[in-house]
Amino acid sequence: MVSSLPIFGADVTTNSSALPDAAQERARWSASGAAWDRWSDPMADMADRLNLPLLDACGVMPGERVLDLASGAGEPALSAAKRVGPAGHVIGIDLVPEMLAGAIRRAADFSGKKPDFAIGDMTSLPFPDEHFDRVTCRFGIMFVPDIQSCMAETLRVLNRHGKAAFMVWGPLSDNTLFSELDAAVSDIIGPDPKHSLNPLFRFEEPGSLGSLMTAAGFENVTEESLRPTARVPLDKPFWRASLDMLFAPRLASARDGSRERIEDAVRSHFSGVAVEGVCPLHLHARIIAGEAG
Ligand SMILES: C[S@@+](CC[C@H](N)C(=O)[O-])C[C@H]1O[C@@H](n2cnc3c(N)ncnc32)[C@H](O)[C@@H]1O
Repeated sequence: MVSSLPIFGADVTTNSSALPDAAQERARWSASGAAWDRWSDPMADMADRLNLPLLDACGVMPGERVLDLASGAGEPALSAAKRVGPAGHVIGIDLVPEMLAGAIRRAADFSGKKPDFAIGDMTSLPFPDEHFDRVTCRFGIMFVPDIQSCMAETLRVLNRHGKAAFMVWGPLSDNTLFSELDAAVSDIIGPDPKHSLNPLFRFEEPGSLGSLMTAAGFENVTEESLRPTARVPLDKPFWRASLDMLFAPRLASARDGSRERIEDAVRSHFSGVAVEGVCPLHLHARIIAGEAG
């Protein structure tokens, strides 16, 4: 389901227990890069189900110059490169080289005009003023402590008709796979003292990121909710990608056998909700977009 509403700078607060810590985020993503690279190709079709609505919300068109913030293993930069075609250009940046390794590997095999990738912090962009038509960011903005600097920098590098679009997660309880994995990991290896999942849901409140964009100077800020339900076969270990990508740093220090016990618990939970061998997986993401004006 997709709904769209305008944001008028409402007085909305973010989830304050979800504020990220810069050093912790850098360590988390450095430790996660290998898993994101490993899963990036098998998950590419699934990733496009979120990439394409994000590119649409941002208005990405053939021939445009696009900056993708927090590209990780290349989402949605590679999809954006397909859309802008040979007359356009995509540059993706990410804070840590370990996450960008997958994007660089995948770009080498890209048929068509290749996107470029560089290490960079989205609060201090290494690009001239008004250099891009579009700025995209999929599941990255929530990990940045200094949102104001990121917004100011995004506005600075966008041209006068430019647009930015950020994808964030809705609440944990609306995202079946994450909530079940979190429950199983916490039951088996104990609660996470760093609460490392919390920043994912920093902008779970409708309007919370949109009001910050409006305050920063974006115009015509809008928000869409995406709430697809995937129907996945129970006989495939569909949870493994998320377990590796989001829980790798926690699992690294877990006792031998913990991983198997977590997988057994997850399999058993999903067996209980499957109908004729198919599990419904609910997902809730939001896209918040704004124009540079
Ligand atoms: C959940 S991953 C998303 C990766 C990719 N966009 C995707 O959707 O698959 C979050 C990414 O944000 C990056 N990141 C975190 N803080 C950042 C910052 N200040 N500047 C640039 N990238 C950052 C991390 O290194 C990580 O690659």
